[in-house]
Amino acid sequence: CLIPVIMAGGSGSRLWPLSRELYPKQFLQLDGEATMLQATVNRLQQLACAAPLVICNEDHRFLVAEQLRHLGKLAHNIILEPAGRNTAPAIALAAMTALQTAAAGEDPLLLVLAADHVIRDEAAFTASVQAAMPHAEAGKLVTFGIVPTQPETGYGYIRRGAEQQGAFAVAQFVEKPDAVTAERYLASGEYYWNSGMFLFRASRFLAELQAFRPDIHAACSLAVGTINPDLDFVRVDKTAFLACPSDSIDYAVMEKTADAVVVPMDAGWSDVGSWSSLWEISTKDDAGNVFRGDVLQHASQNNYVFAESSLVSLVGVDNLVVVQTKDAVLVVDQRKVQDVKKIVEGLKAAG
Ligand code: GDD
Ligand code: MG
Repeated sequence: CLIPVIMAGGSGSRLWPLSRELYPKQFLQLDGEATMLQATVNRLQQLACAAPLVICNEDHRFLVAEQLRHLGKLAHNIILEPAGRNTAPAIALAAMTALQTAAAGEDPLLLVLAADHVIRDEAAFTASVQAAMPHAEAGKLVTFGIVPTQPETGYGYIRRGAEQQGAFAVAQFVEKPDAVTAERYLASGEYYWNSGMFLFRASRFLAELQAFRPDIHAACSLAVGTINPDLDFVRVDKTAFLACPSDSIDYAVMEKTADAVVVPMDAGWSDVGSWSSLWEISTKDDAGNVFRGDVLQHASQNNYVFAESSLVSLVGVDNLVVVQTKDAVLVVDQRKVQDVKKIVEGLKAAG
């Protein structure tokens, strides 16, 4: 059996103003009935799993508990971080917690998932995870590779090596290359995008973390909390965790390990990192528009409009994203959506 580890501590700043510090995108219903966190749990049904371990910021504990409760999931496996230290420490805490609760001598497989991805084809997702299991059982660190469609600089890139029973050796793992490098990787046809989902044995990940980032390993060992069956949440030691360096699993472990393999996944995956990626994955009307809420248009094409609480109307404009919420309105060119985070940074700087 495998234990899903769902990382839900990101801030999703490029989906401002809908995604906020207090309400980041993984807790929103961006695409259908369920929130992104709930959809992540729901798509595990075929994988005969243990209850997921969710790891998030302590400020979001009630939001997470409530969303899981609606799915009928027990709430006692939510690990709370006093502050975000990125994904390497988050996964370390989850791995240490999983080992703590495992039967003596057991080394559980962890399926590490982001809480904010859209996956259209659940059967294909399940098949990839199943294909990855024997490799993870044999001690490999498996990543799931997506065939790239554009020179995206927000992703990790994985160069395929030799094939070994449904998986490829990772010849090279490059996290977030610059635009020129990403173009080259795309043109070569030899690279996958790193999906940001992983499968490995808890102890294998921790051994690689110990090898490459002993500082993170040590800080997390001091910080890790104890599962108490009477409490809903697993709290970590604040002082110890705040002293932990911040780094992602991609830089801390995946770029460095010699034991990674990549299993391809063709499951209609999208990271929904920006407003235009949301437009791309949504069903469009005849003019290429996607409208959520109360929207009217005349002679306008290829726009994404989200109207939370008032009527929004477009006349003769193309390729825009317009997002209206109760206290903020965003209007941005579809080609510039990555820069929405500049507004968020500006707001933060202004206090
Ligand atoms: N608990 C916790 N704590 N979760 C976190 C933290 C943290 O400090 N930071 C991020 N997360 C969660 C996010 O909510 C998201 O679900 C996941 O971890 C990945 O973090 P992102 O910040 O979204 O990473 P990224 O998108 O820049 O890059 C990663 O994903 C790409 C694919 O979407 C990398 O793995 C890339 O290599 C990959 O291509
Ligand atoms: Mg992401």
